[in-house]
Amino acid sequence: MTSPQSILPADGKLAVFLPGLGAVSTTFIAGCLLARQGLAEPVGSLTQLGTLRLGKRTEDRTPKIKDFVPLASLDQLEFASWDLFSDNAYESARTAQVLESRHLDPIREELSSIAPMQAVFYPEYVKRLAGTHVKQAPTKADMVEALRDDIRKTLRDRNCARGVAVWCGSTETYVEPSAVHQTIQSFEKGLLANDPAITSSMLYGWACMKEGIPYANGAPNLSVDFPAAMALARETNTPVAGKDFKTGQTLMKTILAPGLKARMLGLAGWFSTNILGNRDGEVLDDPENFKTKEVSKLGVLEHILQPEVYPSLYGDVYHKVRINYYPPRGDAKEGWDNLDIFGWLGYPMQIKVDFLCRDSILAAPIVLDLALFMDLAKRSGMRGVQEWLSFYFKSPMVAEGLYPEHDLFIQSMKLKNTLRWLRGEQLITHLGREYYD
Ligand SMILES: NC(=O)c1ccc[n+]([C@@H]2O[C@H](COP(=O)([O-])OP(=O)(O)OC[C@H]3O[C@@H](n4cnc5c(N)ncnc54)[C@H](O)[C@@H]3O)[C@@H](O)[C@H]2O)c1
Repeated sequence: MTSPQSILPADGKLAVFLPGLGAVSTTFIAGCLLARQGLAEPVGSLTQLGTLRLGKRTEDRTPKIKDFVPLASLDQLEFASWDLFSDNAYESARTAQVLESRHLDPIREELSSIAPMQAVFYPEYVKRLAGTHVKQAPTKADMVEALRDDIRKTLRDRNCARGVAVWCGSTETYVEPSAVHQTIQSFEKGLLANDPAITSSMLYGWACMKEGIPYANGAPNLSVDFPAAMALARETNTPVAGKDFKTGQTLMKTILAPGLKARMLGLAGWFSTNILGNRDGEVLDDPENFKTKEVSKLGVLEHILQPEVYPSLYGDVYHKVRINYYPPRGDAKEGWDNLDIFGWLGYPMQIKVDFLCRDSILAAPIVLDLALFMDLAKRSGMRGVQEWLSFYFKSPMVAEGLYPEHDLFIQSMKLKNTLRWLRGEQLITHLGREYYD
């Protein structure tokens, strides 16, 4: 596969479209505003802080990623969103209680000027929420057109050269792909017929792809991961990625599990439980919405540990995930993990992890990186599923027939090698040539 001949420059403003102006979105926007004024550091963001090695170790070439590939800078970002509540970004950030006054006060004016557009919201997919700031239209096809109008108007009015979208809306109920999701034609027919298997987030995804706007899904629900959407992404040359930001407990899982496997240590059981009290936790308290999250979280171990290859070590793992809504904690989640592992001659051992994490603080840099990398992908002529961004997702989307890669370290290597490939640099395999030279 040859590298692209050229990557279009990141000139002009980049609109970052955020369906859902809640805890994650506002924490992301606030962090970008603070960082561009030099008031805070964008910790956790690979595009802002990360480097990559080029050539041999002796060459001592380790540029920053943002100097190596042409990415939009923080100064070029324009933020746009939709929500079913009309609160502006400042009010919403206050409600979310993630950031303290010392971070919100200096950017209050800018945050207050970011008001959400009316949402496309069908309450049957998120039963715990009821908002009034919503669009009205007879069919789902009309809703797609209304979203497309919003996108075009935002780009025009705010003088943006390009756009990119990251779904930061609530987790929707569990929906399996069905007949309506198979082809572009069946989906478009379904839009006109208000097919109940077409959810709100699918309408945003469809509208973005129709406009050629790259779309990444930060939640675990079905949104662009079905055959019709994949076909549309290819047809409109749009990059898509998903799903479910890899933060907190699953991030830990995909750091620990590859380590256990690398050392051929066995696993008998892994019990994960969480308490959290934000709006996301409230939505996930509904069993149908939790089911979406559970499916996303459970797949991880199976793929990393490969029980079919190592039946004696991982053939009988008891894996359980629980999420409990507990309002006093707000966004400051606590995730407990108990791992029952075994070693030499089968002797049992235990590992306990108690992660007092901040969900939105971990998710915000992912939104930034996805926005910038998805825009890079588009300018590089890439389309369809961007597997090289699996690094950021709990449930990575893959091209049909492939299994997802969950191991954080393989994901990181794949991401960096894709960047090297984009610039025509040699891929790094970590093979020690010195043994032969
Ligand atoms: N924070 C994390 O670590 C993390 C990790 C993985 C996934 N996620 C997912 O990211 C999403 C956002 O998380 P959050 O903590 O910001 O949640 P949140 O509840 O604070 O914000 C979600 C916002 O989306 C809005 N919304 C819901 N449906 C909408 C629609 N159809 N159109 C427009 N707006 C809509 C809600 O009104 C709300 O303001 C959730 O789906 C969550 O599961 C978060």
